[in-house]
Amino acid sequence: RAWRASLLWFDPDADHPQLHFERDGLLVAAPGADGVWRVQAIGPFEAVRPRWPQLPVQDASGRLIAPGFIDLHVHYPQTDLIGAPADGLLPWLERYTFPHEARFADPAHAEAVAAFFLDEMRRHGVTTALTFATSHPASVDALLRQAQARGLRWIAGKVLQDRHSPDGVRDETERSLLDTEALIARWHGRGRLGYAITPRFAPSCSDAQLRGAGELAARHPDVWIQSHVAENVDEVRWVRTLYPHDRSYLAVYERFGLLRRRAVYAHGIYLDDADRARLADSGAAIAVSPTSNLFLGSGFFDYAAARAAGVTLGLASDVGGGMSFNPFATMRAAYTVGRAAVRGDGAAKVGVSLAPEDLWWQHTAGAARALGLQGVVGSLAPGSEADFVVLDPQATPLLARRTAQAASLAEWLFAFIVLADERAVRDVHVAGAPALQHSSNVDAA
Ligand code: GUN
Ligand code: FE
Repeated sequence: RAWRASLLWFDPDADHPQLHFERDGLLVAAPGADGVWRVQAIGPFEAVRPRWPQLPVQDASGRLIAPGFIDLHVHYPQTDLIGAPADGLLPWLERYTFPHEARFADPAHAEAVAAFFLDEMRRHGVTTALTFATSHPASVDALLRQAQARGLRWIAGKVLQDRHSPDGVRDETERSLLDTEALIARWHGRGRLGYAITPRFAPSCSDAQLRGAGELAARHPDVWIQSHVAENVDEVRWVRTLYPHDRSYLAVYERFGLLRRRAVYAHGIYLDDADRARLADSGAAIAVSPTSNLFLGSGFFDYAAARAAGVTLGLASDVGGGMSFNPFATMRAAYTVGRAAVRGDGAAKVGVSLAPEDLWWQHTAGAARALGLQGVVGSLAPGSEADFVVLDPQATPLLARRTAQAASLAEWLFAFIVLADERAVRDVHVAGAPALQHSSNVDAA
């Protein structure tokens, strides 16, 4: 099938935003033997059309086709916790998060929330995410079963937390590692699905559990690792008392073999230059979670320092600490955080102005690169899987007005970042869905 629209795509392999834009473009996609749709061609309408003269063309002229967004860090069980206020991370975990996640012991509850969560993500144009489930293994089964039914490329893991956690969510060391091993065997590499070894964060895991997680990570190098690091000052202080002999919070994970490619750590606000160098050298990535960091009052991610050190990073909602499933809200929060002239530790600095193509890249091709999935999703380059959104600059009066006034592509993209929500997401195509079915926002045309 073919779509005529304005097209935005990225070079898949670049370590920086290498953007392509075609005002009048044609995207051609076809299903492979595995049933997954892949991009056959993308480029100017006039150049691509003659190669497929017979193919029916879906006309989306005036709209923008762009890669589906990738959320580098999100908790599906916290869908119903968005906007639960607390005095910072640790009280929020105690007061809301742990009691709420305990409800996922009930597989029927997990299944229902998983279905709602995935529909909501897709409706907002998010087609891939690295996702925390809860400590209950069945919570992973529920999510990945639902993702498979929708043809989504999705990654999830059972949370490991064998200490400093209340009854109902605390797991048992040996059992938790056996459960993780069984879930890897059941889900990793099954169709478009992947598994992530998921120690919640250093304070909630015993040495034995972190050691076991690192051993699993060594035996399964293509399985992802996801956790949290250096999010909040009280959390960092706590880690220092729990691990007085480690150089830093990040160093705890490194000691247990949890710093490697395909490892993604959320937040990373309170890191130092030695930590950033270790991240860059190991190939581990940071999931920048700006709406969460603002909502919980955690702090401000230091883009300038991360970029200077060559740290791999991408954008994340971190729902339910985060405030929105809307990828535009995440990008605009990242921009404002970049502008903020204050470092994570409160010291003054010079704000950066992240370019719109940079923000967009961090939520698509850059995030794919952080996952080691460059060329697979996030770019729409030929050969990549055809997960894409169809965006409508006319979606709201203000968006229509500002995009019409834009004097450059950068201004036009920036109008989306600052003003758009799911009303602008007219259509979402998922590469693994039967007949490339799309979301509930579809208009009949
Ligand atoms: N640190 C440990 N668990 C969590 C969580 O669920 N959310 C956030 N934002 N940080 C955490
Ligand atoms: Fe999180």
